[in-house]
Amino acid sequence: MMSLKKTLTVNQLEMMAAKKMGKEAALLVTSGTQANLVSLMSNTKRGNLVILEAESHIYWYEVGGLSTIAGLLPWLIRGNLGVLDPKDIEAAMKPKDIHFPETTLICIENTHNRYGGAIISPDQIKAVGEIAKTFGLKLYMDGARIFNAAMALKVDVKDFTKHVDNLMFCLSKGLSCPIGSIVVGTDEFIEEARKNRKILGGGMRQAGVIAAPGIVALEKMIDRLDEDHKNAKALAEGLAQIDGITIDLKNVQTNIVHFGVSELLGTSDQFVSKLRENRVLALSELLGTSNHLVSKLTENGRLALPRDTKRIRMVTHRGIEKEDIDKTLNIIESIVKELHG
Ligand SMILES: Cc1ncc(COP(=O)(O)O)c(C=O)c1O
Repeated sequence: MMSLKKTLTVNQLEMMAAKKMGKEAALLVTSGTQANLVSLMSNTKRGNLVILEAESHIYWYEVGGLSTIAGLLPWLIRGNLGVLDPKDIEAAMKPKDIHFPETTLICIENTHNRYGGAIISPDQIKAVGEIAKTFGLKLYMDGARIFNAAMALKVDVKDFTKHVDNLMFCLSKGLSCPIGSIVVGTDEFIEEARKNRKILGGGMRQAGVIAAPGIVALEKMIDRLDEDHKNAKALAEGLAQIDGITIDLKNVQTNIVHFGVSELLGTSDQFVSKLRENRVLALSELLGTSNHLVSKLTENGRLALPRDTKRIRMVTHRGIEKEDIDKTLNIIESIVKELHG
């Protein structure tokens, strides 16, 4: 009886996810990284060439799994805030020739992490989808934060997904679950993905406890993403007023805020240490603590992070209220005053 219930919870989540995305089937996996790897493996054969945006999460932050495990050769194209130009894709295509690996897949990322949550619009995806079809390639979307994109443009998420063959999205991150991502596509693709998940050790028995919050997320956590976007905007606008901080407001499109610190304020690492000293903390640091004066600017447990030596990344999410933003801006303002002497 218990195991039947467990199966039902996972099945229910997968069916809900497939329906929301307008695809035939879905598969619960442990993480965004596992979702991407399973999808890469299920869309290609070892030795294939895969076109990726140069700043993509798959290329930067997934330990090269696409090469070491999936056996793929990444071919990087730099996009404009993550948006690939179909002409660049066309130029990257190789003729059928004994010297070249076969190109089979294009990957896009929406919203784009390293471009600060930038959105790729449905029309821009459509254009990439058309060129993919022209060359007989599949189009996959790392849609870890695709609901943020849909919320920001006030469109249905299917407006994005209808142009791709398959995709993944994360239940964690903005949708607030403790764990989990979902791969979505055709029945055939998901059958293959299920095998590949098993190869990667992601076949889970007691997965109902992971699926249950996923169901809550799909029912209740999507609409509230607007609040995160408003808070990110308020944070960005506040930061823009502070001396020594640089920020491009037009690039703050969803829930991620990237800003630069002037040399006078030190490196981004030093500045983040100052934030930490002043209790601008990660959620993970809050758990198990009490009564701190806190502003929590983090995405499910990650502190405001140095984005590189000059820039800092902050993410708004459930649990960050407008008053936390105000408090954080006050703290940053006083740190800047102190550092400026
Ligand atoms: C765009 C994107 N894809 C994939 C991932 C990987 O997700 P996870 O950390 O759950 O493995 C992330 C994580 O931040 C991401 O931003």
